[in-house]
Amino acid sequence: MQYFPTILRPAGNSISLKLSEYSSDLFKPLQIHFYHSGTQHDTDCPEVLLPAYSCPDLISACVHSGAKPVLIDFIHQRPWMCLEQLERAITPDTIAVVAVRFLGISERTESIRNICDTHNLTFIEDSAQGFPLSDLSEYWQGDFNIISFGRGKPLSLLGGGAVLTRNSDNYLPLPDKKSITINEELKYRLKVGIYNLSIHPFLYGLITRIPGLNIGKTILKELTTIEDISASIKNRFMANYIQYQSIANKSSQINLMLQETNNDTIIDLAEVANHDFNQPLLRYPVLFSNLLERDNAYNKLFKYGASLMYKQPLMEIDGVSKYLKKTTEHPVNAKIFSDRLLTLPTHTAVTQEIIDKIHSAIE
Ligand SMILES: Cc1ncc(COP(=O)(O)O)c(C=O)c1O
Repeated sequence: MQYFPTILRPAGNSISLKLSEYSSDLFKPLQIHFYHSGTQHDTDCPEVLLPAYSCPDLISACVHSGAKPVLIDFIHQRPWMCLEQLERAITPDTIAVVAVRFLGISERTESIRNICDTHNLTFIEDSAQGFPLSDLSEYWQGDFNIISFGRGKPLSLLGGGAVLTRNSDNYLPLPDKKSITINEELKYRLKVGIYNLSIHPFLYGLITRIPGLNIGKTILKELTTIEDISASIKNRFMANYIQYQSIANKSSQINLMLQETNNDTIIDLAEVANHDFNQPLLRYPVLFSNLLERDNAYNKLFKYGASLMYKQPLMEIDGVSKYLKKTTEHPVNAKIFSDRLLTLPTHTAVTQEIIDKIHSAIE
């Protein structure tokens, strides 16, 4: 057993295969439009402003829709775009701003909404990493709000996504409709079965040791087609949402633990961003004082589900820079952020015992 130590997964709970009728009232007054993934949203605008530290799928979505991504640096030691730089980056070609809800922490949506209204820009809220337990219509403030049901996402169904629109769905592409096939349903059941087993710490520990699997590696994937959500996934959305609401997310307990640590070099990002702990965090983000401290903590904590997320800002990820608008503003704070970030797990398998072990390790 000591050759195969258990490893806690960084995120994700088990998925229910229960079928349920989907109610479109759930998101009212927003309207929902399902897609094959969260990346599959589309606007046909020339320049889109987005955070310099984020998922490369944002770049794929821009490129697919014919838009030029313009990176906006973070504020120092915050998961938020610098709004002064955002305003400076607006040109007559800008038509949209993408604000990312980082692991569930809200961007400053009121200020971004004001900037968008002043300059007549579309406000896109990317909420692939955040899904509320309640107050669904108040949680999202964008004209277009992106949600994802992919692996490692808050409400994971191992695939699919949706766009929640506020006033208009004019820009949205129509996906090809798919009908449910027995084959697809069987494959989905098998996939969920394997996934539900693989999140067990013993099996997860084994899987992470398989060479070449590159679990959690951040790469730029090209988006080629806009497809409809699979019916197998859509028919499980409501049952899994009900299950999601009943699952205890451990963010508040981790917040409490961080307040009790004597290590004042760690920045609790959820705390400094005034996160509303009534809503869950996909993982709990903290910043260390430098790369070495962060890496030391990661080495001690990865068996308890700590993870690094994206290891570089977007412009340093292979294949991204050729798509970006060249600007004179170098995203230095996004780089510092990527060097110092560590995320702690918040899912159901995180017990108080594990939180105490994390506490002792970072003390
Ligand atoms: C912030 C953000 N936006 C979009 C996506 C893409 O979502 P999907 O995997 O459903 O295409 C991700 C996926 O990791 C993400 O983290």
